[in-house]
Amino acid sequence: MTDRKRKLDNPLSATLTAIRDIRDTSGLIVPSPETERLDGKTCLITGANSGLGFAIATELARRGAHLILACRSGIPETAERISTETGNMDITMEPVDLSDFNSIDALCDRLDANNVQLDRLILNAGLMAPKSAPSAQGFETMLAVHFFGNYRLTKRLIADGRMRQSDPAQPPRIIIVSSEAHRTAPAIDLAEFGKLKPHSASTAMKQYGHSKLALSLLARHLANTHRGVGDRPDIAVFHMCPGPVNSAIAKSAPKLMQPMIKVMMGTFFPKPEKAAHPVIHLACSPDLDSMTGDYMHLMRFKNPSDSAMDDHAADALIARAEDLIAQIS
Ligand SMILES: NC(=O)c1ccc[n+]([C@@H]2O[C@H](COP(=O)([O-])OP(=O)(O)OC[C@H]3O[C@@H](n4cnc5c(N)ncnc54)[C@H](OP(=O)(O)O)[C@@H]3O)[C@@H](O)[C@H]2O)c1
Repeated sequence: MTDRKRKLDNPLSATLTAIRDIRDTSGLIVPSPETERLDGKTCLITGANSGLGFAIATELARRGAHLILACRSGIPETAERISTETGNMDITMEPVDLSDFNSIDALCDRLDANNVQLDRLILNAGLMAPKSAPSAQGFETMLAVHFFGNYRLTKRLIADGRMRQSDPAQPPRIIIVSSEAHRTAPAIDLAEFGKLKPHSASTAMKQYGHSKLALSLLARHLANTHRGVGDRPDIAVFHMCPGPVNSAIAKSAPKLMQPMIKVMMGTFFPKPEKAAHPVIHLACSPDLDSMTGDYMHLMRFKNPSDSAMDDHAADALIARAEDLIAQIS
């Protein structure tokens, strides 16, 4: 086990490591200035009603984007709040539960009916589930949302031609919110993948890391698949970790721990507005049009874990996911 992996392996040392990470300011990229705007661009953001997603949506609204907020809750007040704050009225909301394929398919049907063309797809929704519970299709909920839901959504959106590709000089971008926790996960055991196994609050972090490794491998697979033939990808794909965020991510933690978590997050974790900088950079910077597959942690590009850079593992994971999906449909 690498040193960094060990440090991220349990909630306390992961928190301390994350706090140390945000204090290290060496080699940071300058955040995208507000002059880098997205006027005329359409961005779909999942989980935009809370935390990081809300901050991303608010900043992109400020920068002139047409927003589609795909959320499980906060409809319609999220759009109303963002419109009031930014003056951008070009915001629509779409209900979706990313743990349920039927809900994702219904969202895609509505986007098809409206012939939506996306310039940016920001897969932000996520959760930390202290107890193992089955999704509508029987997968563990974190794996269902982080991996299966995002896979189902991106596969449909791309197959249906929803990612705008009219300007080859500016490929559409998919930005996937993963986590440094992906480093804690061992390489994925395909024979065991997708099986619902019990976990508790003390082992939830391991399952979270596993689900985020699967998500980062999905990013790898998508980037490889849509790399294109010229100097620009057909669709650019980035994955990233925002670092620690003072958000509602721990809302399902045991009640007794809530006050302590709240104080710790409020004291040490950056506000969502600051944590959103890397996503805003990935969405807005004009310097990234020839890049794809890159991983950003805070405001630095760096390599994800070796397991997350394994092309063979990424393809094998998608093949396994297809098998599992075929068994339930
Ligand atoms: N907070 C951190 O320290 C941290 C660190 C690294 C990475 N991240 C990642 O950052 C992302 C945003 O999290 P956050 O910190 O902003 O937490 P948050 O405030 O809890 O926001 C999570 C969002 O995901 C949505 N979501 C959860 N399950 C969903 C489902 N089944 N269908 C649709 N939407 C669902 C939530 O909707 P509801 O409001 O309806 O629950 C909420 O909008 C996540 O992917 C998380 O893993 C967070």
